[in-house]
Amino acid sequence: MIKVENLHRHFGAFRAVDGASLEIAKGSITGLVGPNGAGKTTLFNVIAGALQPTSGRVVMDGEDITGLPPHELFHKGLLRTFQIAHEFSSMSCRENLMMVPGAQSGETLWSTWFGRKRIAEEERALKAKADEVLDFLTISHLADHPAGAISGGQKKLLELGRTMMVDAKIVFLDEVGAGVNRTLLNTIADTIVRLNTERGYTFCVIEHDMDFIGRICDPVIVMAEGKKLAEGSLADIKANEQVIEAYLGTGLKNKEQVG
Ligand SMILES: Nc1ncnc2c1ncn2[C@@H]1O[C@H](COP(=O)(O)OP(=O)(O)O)[C@@H](O)[C@H]1O
Ligand SMILES: [Mg+2]
Repeated sequence: MIKVENLHRHFGAFRAVDGASLEIAKGSITGLVGPNGAGKTTLFNVIAGALQPTSGRVVMDGEDITGLPPHELFHKGLLRTFQIAHEFSSMSCRENLMMVPGAQSGETLWSTWFGRKRIAEEERALKAKADEVLDFLTISHLADHPAGAISGGQKKLLELGRTMMVDAKIVFLDEVGAGVNRTLLNTIADTIVRLNTERGYTFCVIEHDMDFIGRICDPVIVMAEGKKLAEGSLADIKANEQVIEAYLGTGLKNKEQVG
């Protein structure tokens, strides 16, 4: 579904992404792991249009999407989740979902012609959709709570919910488990699996928690020093000498830095 071909993203002389080539298969939940500084987030940013690549290509379903702006990728169903913006934190969880760009029909001309009745109908439909999403996420009880007042894990669920307000095809998640308690992490994992099996979403997931990766991801891609180092099941990559070295190598470097 996504093909990354010899992708580079340099910052000055520093090669954050340094010739990465990899594929994300349609229907998969692909894990992306690797030591800190491996270039995972930079790779996501380039794929999702937040950063221009220095060179290389990103192809989605055979179409070259390299360097397209995020809103165009959004309309193609390629989404990366974002933290709930500060200015939306006083709005309710339901309102946050209703605000997702593209969730509205966008037929403003029609709305004008048919007037307030049409707008009210649209709003009812949006509200129903948002409530269905909240129900899917098992957080219906938070519908009227301000988004800024829910827990970190619940916010992650709401971020996932935003992808459900539009027709997402592939969703990129960067460290969705960071700072989330075990119970909610399990709920997030379940939600990802359900979106995958019930709604056909493809996922690419960056995560440090290997239990989480092992539970939901296959295959797992290991990135180190800006490129793909290995790919396989979690068991495969855990047994891979180069992978062990890559993790150990940064461990040693860190120690040297501390010392
Ligand atoms: N905007 C930037 N300017 C300069 N260096 C950057 C920038 N973004 C990331 N880097 C560097 O690129 C490297 C890879 O970062 P990142 O993609 O965040 O890695 P990961 O997500 O795998 O931890 C890091 O050494 C980081 O300091
Ligand atoms: Mg990162």
